[in-house]
Amino acid sequence: MQIIKTIKEMQALSRGFKAKGKTIGFVPTMGALHEGHLSLVRQTKAENDIVVVSIFVNPTQFGPKEDFNKYPRDVEGDLSKLSPIGVDAVFIPGASEIYPNGFSASINIGSIGDILCGASRHGHFNGVATVVAKLFNIVMPDRAYFGQKDFQQTVVIKKLVMELNFDIDVIVCPTVREPDGLAMSSRNSYLNEAERKAAGILYKALKHGEGLILNNVKDASRVKSEIEALIKTEPLAEIEYAEIIDAATLEKIDDIKSIAAISLAVRIGTTRLIDNLVVVLSI
Ligand code: PAF
Repeated sequence: MQIIKTIKEMQALSRGFKAKGKTIGFVPTMGALHEGHLSLVRQTKAENDIVVVSIFVNPTQFGPKEDFNKYPRDVEGDLSKLSPIGVDAVFIPGASEIYPNGFSASINIGSIGDILCGASRHGHFNGVATVVAKLFNIVMPDRAYFGQKDFQQTVVIKKLVMELNFDIDVIVCPTVREPDGLAMSSRNSYLNEAERKAAGILYKALKHGEGLILNNVKDASRVKSEIEALIKTEPLAEIEYAEIIDAATLEKIDDIKSIAAISLAVRIGTTRLIDNLVVVLSI
């Protein structure tokens, strides 16, 4: 497993793989890898000749009051998890490699980045789009893999790829969950014991909403209010949003038709957690 720190080396390596006709699968991460990331890496390994993982805690996607400084970092631990899966290269650039002095370019992904999580995390999705575009130009993958847990991010990245004509397939992989349903996330490490227990309310609420929809409740406002009422039974939980949305456009819907997503952002203590379920009705 090669550890690559510079853009030049990474581009040269990828060019070499491409010259040999190899397909490159790419998993961009911010490190602190858990089973959710590793499931993406395993799927990438199964579907491509070459697997590249990046580890970069991207400063431009964190707001000034967010957790950039305390975001968990464990590069040694990450490498020991990636090596047994047969990863070919891990790209670990420093911040000045990605954002050298004077760097000022930025992708504005548009209004899709201002709703749901973007309403409280101003500029977050522009930061994600900018770094992912850079990583795509550096790694030059055929396929890139993202977890469904960050549902809005997957929609933003598909839009980025389509509108800027990246010749890359975006593959969205299922959320990996703890036994009580909590979606795996590097931020789960912020939760103390009581908060960790309380965090199970997100999945309970999603499953309740899914149950209503599958039982033919078409009124999105009823589903939303039942979900909110359930989350409010947990004293440590504070709802940022709970929405029933169109899975393609992320717009709020009134009537649930064939496919909808239930999307949540909830604070448990000071930790902000997100989760979602896509519900497909068979017609
Ligand atoms: O999902 C993440 O870990 C990050 O948002 C990503 C895609 C690696 C961009 O920094």
